[in-house]
Amino acid sequence: MADPLHVYDAPPLGANADWTIPQNWEAFSADEHAMWDHLFARQSEMLPGRAAQAFLRGVDVLKLEKPGIPDYRELNARLMAATGWQVVAVPGLVPDDVFFDHLANRRFPAGNFIRTPDQIDYLQEPDVFHDVFGHVPMLADPVFADYMVAYGKGGLRSLGFGALHKLARLYWYTVEFGLIAEPDGLRIYGAGIVSSYGESIFALDDPSPNRIGFDLLRLMRTEYRIDDYQQNYFVIPSLEHLLKVTVETDFAPLYAQLEALPDIAIADIVPGDEVITHGTQYYARAKG
Ligand code: PHE
Ligand code: FE
Repeated sequence: MADPLHVYDAPPLGANADWTIPQNWEAFSADEHAMWDHLFARQSEMLPGRAAQAFLRGVDVLKLEKPGIPDYRELNARLMAATGWQVVAVPGLVPDDVFFDHLANRRFPAGNFIRTPDQIDYLQEPDVFHDVFGHVPMLADPVFADYMVAYGKGGLRSLGFGALHKLARLYWYTVEFGLIAEPDGLRIYGAGIVSSYGESIFALDDPSPNRIGFDLLRLMRTEYRIDDYQQNYFVIPSLEHLLKVTVETDFAPLYAQLEALPDIAIADIVPGDEVITHGTQYYARAKG
């Protein structure tokens, strides 16, 4: 059987050297647009009171409530006006250096396919719903938009230090699975959470996972899992804090320091942690 994942060694036929392809919006079928609408309705129903203010503002500013998979010609006009970012279509996962180069240049690569009905609750790779609904609203926020540019540049730099493995944890625990403390309580902003029905609830309300205050060095020592809900979430006090700390820190000495420090096991609480929730971990243990 052919590899079912959208993973390629080189840009596939028809793709540009930077791996982008035309979105070819007209080619999405009625069933594919209906899948988007189904996922959009299910997520947007639960997001008030759960999603970060910046995320909700982004959904609004970008007019994502318009039915169907967004047409990037329209979406990009709004996104460009907000923060200078644009969404570009790619066939699937792209190599790290290509991904970072896109981010550094304010382009967010989005997989140009949508999950099938048997993948509604879980799929192994990012589709257009995860990439656009999950990631793009935050890119309409000026502070987060700058953070993602800085991350792209930092990603390219990390390759020279062989430190991508450590930096990837920062992406994971912020861009994908980040929580933020807002005046009314904890909110979700990570794309992996906001695009997941189950994790939108689990990440905020479940007693199982730890919730720990954001600390850059501690975070970059922490392992993560890709196969199930997180056992651990890091909480930022504000997007401004996240941007300031990461931009003002030179990661070169941090990478050197991390070389000498042991990793922290996924669910461990360590001295110095600002513990917001000491999770029971019942969920992860039950699956043991
Ligand atoms: N300041 C980081 C460095 O020196 C770059 C970076 C910025 C990384 C923001 C992640 C997020 O490499
Ligand atoms: Fe993602």
